[in-house]
Amino acid sequence: MPHAPLPTRRSLLASGTTWMALAGTSGWLSPAMAQTALRPTPKQTEGPFYPIALPRDHDFDLLRNGSATYSKGQIAWVEGQVTDTHGAPVSGAVVEIWQCDHEGNYHHPRDGGKADPAFQGFGKVMVGKDGRYRFRTMKPQPYTGRTPHIHVKVILDRKELLTTQLYVAGDPGNDRDSLWRRLDMQERAALTRVFAPSAEGVRADFPIVVQA
Ligand SMILES: [Fe+2]
Repeated sequence: MPHAPLPTRRSLLASGTTWMALAGTSGWLSPAMAQTALRPTPKQTEGPFYPIALPRDHDFDLLRNGSATYSKGQIAWVEGQVTDTHGAPVSGAVVEIWQCDHEGNYHHPRDGGKADPAFQGFGKVMVGKDGRYRFRTMKPQPYTGRTPHIHVKVILDRKELLTTQLYVAGDPGNDRDSLWRRLDMQERAALTRVFAPSAEGVRADFPIVVQA
């Protein structure tokens, strides 16, 4: 009786066989390959309002622009760690965020130049050895056609590793947002975070996984 052909790695993957199952039954995979890799944070469109030129004040605190203080909306801390798919911190990664003000206006000529000058609107930080970042900003607000979101970009050595958007868990606008709706369940979980009460306002933990 002829032997059944051995399955190829490709056929096993196509049949949905997991890496762990492969490693356990075949011994084909090195320990490094068998490790469960973290899924990279999903990408989303940059949108039309990335700054043309960086504002003079572009530090981690979007609620202070130069000498002005922005006090509209709810204070929100957005923080997390930038890691690669093996969980190692990506030292030197630059994290940028940008978002509209309380009235839904971006600091961008294409958005009419109506944004509140007290709102910094854009912030940029470089992470250290621990990969951690944090921003102090406003809990994002909706504007026409969009559920609340914060735009996020990660750059390493001038190379863009990720452009995406962060959403607010439980916001009723998410279900109506075309960009949010096209995310699958895992992608929604990665990009839609709880803004929980904290010592100052609310706080969202947003871990970022990149392919560095
Ligand atoms: Fe936007």
